[in-house]
Amino acid sequence: MRFQVKFLGLFARALFFYLCAMDILLQCRPGFEREAAQEVVDRFTTGKGSAESKFERESGFVRISAKAPREAYAAIHWKDWIFVRQWWCIHTELALTGTDRLNPILLAARNAHDGVELPFSDLFLEMPDTNEGRQSKKFLSHIEPLIFTELEHEGLLDVQGDGPRLCLFFISATEALVGVADERSAPWSMGFPRLRFPAEAPSRSTLKLAEAFEVFLSPREQDLLLRSGMKAVDLGAAPGGWTWQLLARGMRVTAVDNGPLKGGALGHPSVTHLKADGFCYRPKVPVDWVVCDMVEQPGRVADLMLDWMVKGYAQTAIFNLKLQKHPRLQEVRNSLETIRKGLLDAGIRGRLIARQLYHDREEITVYLRREGKAKASGW
Ligand SMILES: C[S@@+](CC[C@H](N)C(=O)[O-])C[C@H]1O[C@@H](n2cnc3c(N)ncnc32)[C@H](O)[C@@H]1O
Repeated sequence: MRFQVKFLGLFARALFFYLCAMDILLQCRPGFEREAAQEVVDRFTTGKGSAESKFERESGFVRISAKAPREAYAAIHWKDWIFVRQWWCIHTELALTGTDRLNPILLAARNAHDGVELPFSDLFLEMPDTNEGRQSKKFLSHIEPLIFTELEHEGLLDVQGDGPRLCLFFISATEALVGVADERSAPWSMGFPRLRFPAEAPSRSTLKLAEAFEVFLSPREQDLLLRSGMKAVDLGAAPGGWTWQLLARGMRVTAVDNGPLKGGALGHPSVTHLKADGFCYRPKVPVDWVVCDMVEQPGRVADLMLDWMVKGYAQTAIFNLKLQKHPRLQEVRNSLETIRKGLLDAGIRGRLIARQLYHDREEITVYLRREGKAKASGW
């Protein structure tokens, strides 16, 4: 009995050392802190880990204290998160209350570089995506070149290199978190690419599809999968922002919507506009892409996209799930599970990524691609 107790004690201690304590910063759309926190806590508390979240509503960020096996953290890629735009491990908390704010930042950057083999390859100055957060913008654009030049001069920053990124998150102009991020973090400052609105596009929601292409597809995949001459169907197309993105890549588009197309999508020679119900329409021959931005219950859209994939009407889909019910994370998980299960049952292997994009409001965007027959659990 005594031996057993001693053995258990040793085992618990080994487990304690095996678990690694992490203080993690998450960034998200303001108002979605609960969902972002829940995703990460759930992921770290499966198995041996534990995690707690701390956030203020509408703040646009969450702090997580986690104890988990290092492999658990190492296995997670930014594309695994739905509501988390950006994430990295916090190295230092900085209070910038004195008149000299530059030198404390440089000191923290040097400390964060201790134990890192290569020079940093980039510097991200980030802030909460809120009106309050944006008040630091002017200060950040002032200090960014100063930090950049000094770190380059000290050999701690080389933009041609393959080192990790140095990240500074300014909660306010006087309070910052410092961390080091690698390829598991999103490759854009604050977790989203900056896109310019194309003047000829008929609606601002054109940026949603442009962002989806940028976020879900690597540059090589964009070359392979967004080619001139491909065929696409746009369900719920009017006024034509998404159709316009497909046309801009040289595709032929069937735009399905009872509403009118506008701007660059109206009367375009590569567009066929069908005034039909997007839930009933199916193409006579399979197409390369189906995109869908219809405002409908997420479960209905998930079922529709599943049908398109299982029956092979399209090879790749991008669609919006408009969030309607609380808890929103559960609503999303239910829809994604329907798709995963439906594809597995049909023996189809593929790729499913879901993310709340910068241009998404009360919605998320999903990327779904058929990649052949499933072996065991290919999804
Ligand atoms: C958010 S808007 C689409 C905006 C479009 N993606 C763009 O970039 O311009 C939603 C559209 O879905 C259409 N819609 C809703 N239900 C539909 C249905 N059952 N069949 C076809 N279109 C539908 C609406 O008429 C509306 O034009």
